[in-house]
Amino acid sequence: MTRKEASSTGGAKKQVTVTINGKKYPADEGEILLGVAVREKIAIPHLCYEPSLDPYGACRLCMVEVIKDGKREMTTSCTLRAAEGLEVVTDTPAIVKYRNVLFELYLAEAPKSEVIKEMAARYGVTKTRFLKKLDTTDSLGNKCVLCGLCVRACNEIMGAGAIGFVNRGPYTVVNTPYFEPTKDCFGCGACAKVCPTKAVEFEDRGSERVMTSWSGTKVPLARCDCCGGYYAPKALAISTLAHITPSLREEIAALCPVCRGRRIARDEILAGRGGGAGSHG
Ligand code: SF4
Ligand code: FES
Repeated sequence: MTRKEASSTGGAKKQVTVTINGKKYPADEGEILLGVAVREKIAIPHLCYEPSLDPYGACRLCMVEVIKDGKREMTTSCTLRAAEGLEVVTDTPAIVKYRNVLFELYLAEAPKSEVIKEMAARYGVTKTRFLKKLDTTDSLGNKCVLCGLCVRACNEIMGAGAIGFVNRGPYTVVNTPYFEPTKDCFGCGACAKVCPTKAVEFEDRGSERVMTSWSGTKVPLARCDCCGGYYAPKALAISTLAHITPSLREEIAALCPVCRGRRIARDEILAGRGGGAGSHG
């Protein structure tokens, strides 16, 4: 069942009880087991779990063993749904062995990622037997583990489709098509926000946002008419304004959020609706 299907069933969700490492926890029926573990502060390492996207199971780090009818089966907890009586364990010798090899692979894949180093060290893995893949030209700073979250956020959440997987096999990287600046990027930064290894970088330089990780794609920033500051990518500022009532939109269109707030507060006070010191009886 996809996230959309789960939410389309509507109404109050049925409560079930799941067992993790021998302890019982409440959950919504169909809830992602890794989500339950995160909520209950049960440590299961994970990289590619993002609650706003459908589960994908790319990084394989979140393995658990499901115990059913006396048998055990390893599966990713980010694709496992809570059901009455579900029982899992998180740290069996088989899981630890599998996970440690994955940590070694990720240490080699993303040798500059402090996030990976710290996560692996928490589970006792500080070295890798695999060849380190250091690339001095890598626009993701040798921190990318190819989990695909940035690509999915750009495509499925923002609808921009500005980045994707480029090349094949061991040469696969994430970038813009043909490693060229793209007009499809809004400069929203969703890619950077979801990246579990903090590999994606961008910076605001004057009137432009420069997506340094994405072939130096440049996105114009909107400027506030009141304070003169650049505050958000123009395309995003325009699409946000589309949700505001026309009369208000006209008044605040060219203002940054701070000046917008001040203008609205000033208008409220002048109209006697401010609820400030002078308005109580
Ligand atoms: S840049 Fe970050 S989010 Fe994108 S694939 Fe690499 S690790 Fe995943
Ligand atoms: S978080 Fe489950 S496979 Fe990545």
